[in-house]
Amino acid sequence: PKPQDFRLSETEREDILHEISQYPEARAASIEALKIAQRRLGWVPDAAIAEVATLLGVSTAELDGVATFYNLIYRQPVGRHVITICDSVACYLTGYEATRDALIETLGIQPGQTTADGRFTLLPICCLGACDHGPVLMIGEDTHLDVTPDTVPAMLEAYE
Ligand code: FES
Repeated sequence: PKPQDFRLSETEREDILHEISQYPEARAASIEALKIAQRRLGWVPDAAIAEVATLLGVSTAELDGVATFYNLIYRQPVGRHVITICDSVACYLTGYEATRDALIETLGIQPGQTTADGRFTLLPICCLGACDHGPVLMIGEDTHLDVTPDTVPAMLEAYE
């Protein structure tokens, strides 16, 4: 099915309603609801934003704002594993550029792109809050500290 034909499944809808029931206000469940909407495709198309916004009783613009702000929700197709590399100042000073270049070379993609096999997407991100262990990156929900060009290949191997 095309992204514009996306519809929540019965289970996804029930899971979202369950999350909403955990909070005094429905909109407080926004992030959990978006994570459920993202389970099947790995990203959240416009049609899903509209459906989830209706369940939460918020506008699509508000929910889109939440989705865009939150690092682990994607509004465009991404690979199976999303690598987010910190390009803020502390990591910049400890070797961000060399680590980024090693990723670019190993993966054969530029930041913002996805590998042809759909395995990885590479995205820059601002400070991940582990500044004394730069360069820092995340792969999915895993944080990797002190990532140097030498440690990049072995690190990637763990993600199929
Ligand atoms: Fe990279 Fe803070 S500057 S984690």
